[in-house]
Amino acid sequence: KSVAVLKGGWSPERDVSLTTGRACADALREAGYDVVELDVTRDLRSLVDLLRPAGGGGPDVVFNALHGKWGEDGCVQGVLEILAIPYTHSGVLASALAMDKPRARQMFTEIGLRCPEGVVVERRALLGGDPMPRPYVVKPIDQGSSIGVHIVGPGDNLAAVEAAEARFGDRVLVERFVPGRELTVAVLGDRPIAVTELRPRVKFYDYEAKYTDGITEHLVPAPIARPVYDEAMRWALAAHQALGCEGLTRADFRWDDSLPGTDGLNILEINTQPGMTPLSLAPEQAKWSGLPFPQLMRWMVEHARC
Ligand code: DAL
Ligand code: MG
Repeated sequence: KSVAVLKGGWSPERDVSLTTGRACADALREAGYDVVELDVTRDLRSLVDLLRPAGGGGPDVVFNALHGKWGEDGCVQGVLEILAIPYTHSGVLASALAMDKPRARQMFTEIGLRCPEGVVVERRALLGGDPMPRPYVVKPIDQGSSIGVHIVGPGDNLAAVEAAEARFGDRVLVERFVPGRELTVAVLGDRPIAVTELRPRVKFYDYEAKYTDGITEHLVPAPIARPVYDEAMRWALAAHQALGCEGLTRADFRWDDSLPGTDGLNILEINTQPGMTPLSLAPEQAKWSGLPFPQLMRWMVEHARC
């Protein structure tokens, strides 16, 4: 089978996608596929020509290694639907819902999953004062990799946060900061794989902590109470299914371990195009569960949606 890996794109997560794409392409070759890597740009016409050449041919399957706007939000998925090429990961609707954090939060809440108290505000409103008691988190409504995420604590300058958010649009999501621990669960098909705890040696699991070797400790399986472990696994699968996701996703959580039982568990979001860099969490969980990277790639290609 021939597989075209779409990577790059022009979202702020372009570099992450290039790394994801390279890692996936290598693993796909190791799994025995005929692989071509395509660096996606705004030149849609060239992309369509490569995927559906005039004389016939083109790849059997597209492996989508894009992250962020256009590649993760249903747009590229729509192009692939129109071209009728099977592709990996989620379809148009699930991708769009997951990328829009406020809408994803609504759906999580509807099925009984706890999200941190949150509100969408006009970015400019931040200049008028705190939308909720500090500490809270300000984030763009539709970015990934913690880009544009600010934790606002005592002493932080809200005007600087407002200015930094300007490039991401007119609205921001403000969420109560959940103290405690950072957890993540990858879901493959209908199976949550494992819970990983992230322990960054810096303020929080931000862009640098995600992609710089040595900054964050990954503990898989997470050394947490069994009920919390099981609840996170259940919630990740429920979120995946509620949004209609397919293939591989990864749900991110905060757990306030000062509260009893599972009371402190909060789901933050689900990622329909989880990172697959050498430091990323989904491939690490798959490997831990007995599915090495090339076999994970094989599963994804063979379960591509068409
Ligand atoms: N948005 C990054 C790639 C992730 O969720 O892994
Ligand atoms: Mg994300």
